[in-house]
Amino acid sequence: MKEQQLSLTYHVFSDLSELSGDDAALLNAAREATVHAYAPYSHFNVAAVARMATGKILSGTNQENASFPAGICAERVLLSAASSLYPGEAINAVAISYNGELNNSKRPLAPCGICRQSLAEFESRYKQPVRLILGGMTGEIFIFSSVSDLLPLQFSRDDLMDNTSL
Ligand code: THU
Repeated sequence: MKEQQLSLTYHVFSDLSELSGDDAALLNAAREATVHAYAPYSHFNVAAVARMATGKILSGTNQENASFPAGICAERVLLSAASSLYPGEAINAVAISYNGELNNSKRPLAPCGICRQSLAEFESRYKQPVRLILGGMTGEIFIFSSVSDLLPLQFSRDDLMDNTSL
């Protein structure tokens, strides 16, 4: 038996003014896009905005449904749009923000597990990291240089391949 450890490094910024111009613009766009969420059930408006490798900016917001499981998170709305509108283009960075009726939207929102999995697929598909910029409407901002940092030991297409020779 042996013990293994995983470590996680990310950067914490006290507000938008500490970010680079590109990162600040992306997070600002995410904050503004929260108004386009359709969240009449949770009253928790989320927006995810991508900067494509080509520089194009694209956003997604959560879309809920009276049949609750039919609802979809902002991140996966964004990724479906990116794949459909800009096929073959990698994503350089994604900023995620939210505005919740029951909280002060100060704490950075880390994407849910399914969205981490979907974001990670973009990294493996395009063989490049997706930088994550996480922030509420105010408060601290967390930056991760890769989605995979938030999904250690991830399940990926490699797991579906023949590994019988290992
Ligand atoms: N939500 C997102 O859009 N992204 C996340 O990463 C977490 C949760 C949405 C789903 C649902 O519409 C609402 O937030 C409350 O869970």
